[in-house]
Amino acid sequence: MTSACLGTVAQAKVADHLQEFPDGLHVSKLSEVTGIECNYLARILRLLATKHIFREVSPDHFANNRLSIQLVSSNPLSSFSGFCADEILRSSTELHNTIVKSRPDKKRTAWSRATGHLDPVWEYYEKQDAVRAQRFGKAMIGFSSFITFDSTLYGFPWKDLAPKSTVCDLGSGLGHVSMHIAKACPQINIVLQDLPNTIEQAKLIWRERAPEIIDAGRVEFVPVNFLRQSPVTACDYYFMKNVIHNWSDPNAGRHFYERQKGHERHIQTSDSRICDATCCRVSAV
Ligand SMILES: C[S@@+](CC[C@H](N)C(=O)[O-])C[C@H]1O[C@@H](n2cnc3c(N)ncnc32)[C@H](O)[C@@H]1O
Repeated sequence: MTSACLGTVAQAKVADHLQEFPDGLHVSKLSEVTGIECNYLARILRLLATKHIFREVSPDHFANNRLSIQLVSSNPLSSFSGFCADEILRSSTELHNTIVKSRPDKKRTAWSRATGHLDPVWEYYEKQDAVRAQRFGKAMIGFSSFITFDSTLYGFPWKDLAPKSTVCDLGSGLGHVSMHIAKACPQINIVLQDLPNTIEQAKLIWRERAPEIIDAGRVEFVPVNFLRQSPVTACDYYFMKNVIHNWSDPNAGRHFYERQKGHERHIQTSDSRICDATCCRVSAV
């Protein structure tokens, strides 16, 4: 319920509208600008206020607080809320049907069952839904900001890498994690690899946030579909963060097979660094 409410206010940009009214705004005014029926909006905001997201300063008057301000649309956490309340919640309705032993079509994912799209969500974004694709890219920046930037930076010895080492960030998304690493470790060069539209989006973000790294020639943007193509081969390290955790074993295997194939063609050595979540027992990984 909370996720659905968060997604709704993020989509309706309620926190943006409240920015100019630190003392609060009547829900009828918010209803006018968001197009959400007044009574429903009041109930949604009140539910969130009971969880300390927004304040109900007086009956039916709502204001931002330190939590709700994170939902302003320019903040990637707002995109993360939207993504969770949309793609994730929709898919979750099919979790049981997807994992129960007697399921009819064993190959279909929860996403595919819930939405009717047969492509994996990444290809769906790439081919059919630029708006959700952009939101997803930003959502990953939001996710990393509260969970993994520093653990990724300090969890691997990036600072000890030799000058001019090249790190390929596979399934980089917009490359925000590599950007963090590249800024902290000026001796490292980065190659970002993801699906073509994501890589185009990444170029814009890097131009905006790290133009000095682009101008110094320290980052390359190379599109790939790594289930069908080998990644670039001349890198010293291959880094994958939050990429294979939600893949089937055959697809995860497919990716590593493609990588191996590329490397066999260009005899060289390299290291892989994987940063991901697992629910398996450590002995089973
Ligand atoms: C969960 S996101 C992780 C992004 C980033 N590494 C991070 O930690 O924020 C997974 C990424 O893998 C990419 N990806 C999925 N399938 C891919 C494929 N077949 N080829 C290339 N990239 C793919 C997606 O486009 C997405 O950007």
